[in-house]
Amino acid sequence: MTQVSGTSDVPDLGRRQFMNLLLLGAASGAVGGMLYPVIKYFIPPSSGGGGGGVTAKNELGNDVIASQFVASHNPGDRVLVQGLKGDPTYLVIQESGSLESYGISSICTHLGCVVPWNASENKFMCPCHGSQYDATGKVVRGPAPLSLALAHADVTDDDKVTLSNWTETDFRTGDSPWWA
Ligand code: FES
Repeated sequence: MTQVSGTSDVPDLGRRQFMNLLLLGAASGAVGGMLYPVIKYFIPPSSGGGGGGVTAKNELGNDVIASQFVASHNPGDRVLVQGLKGDPTYLVIQESGSLESYGISSICTHLGCVVPWNASENKFMCPCHGSQYDATGKVVRGPAPLSLALAHADVTDDDKVTLSNWTETDFRTGDSPWWA
């Protein structure tokens, strides 16, 4: 509160930093993990929706076009997009080359670092305290207490990818979703 200047620029700055996070998150979970709480603070709550579905956004802030997305990635890839509530969320390219019907939150259930995908290990591996999650985001090593949150990933008639709340049973554990 000591220096308030250019407050109208804050949301734009936050969004730009968030997009940088999407890029950084894929390459450096440690950096992304440290930045995430700060960036989250600057993103207006309305920017990502939260009740219903949202259109996934890429690192440039543009809508994710499903056909282009799967064509530009390899089978088995997990790719960060902006999802529900603005959270960085992985879209999954199936081995068949099509988009998986769920997205995986990148937010570690221990203390909230962004968890990078490690393709060679076929796991999500948190750089902060070593938690690991399998390829579906199910926790396989602590200290994280819970699996990564899920969201439905669907393709609209106009070829855009939407993410919406997953309120059904967690297919990985058979439990009710802890995030719903
Ligand atoms: Fe991921 Fe602690 S924040 S293991």
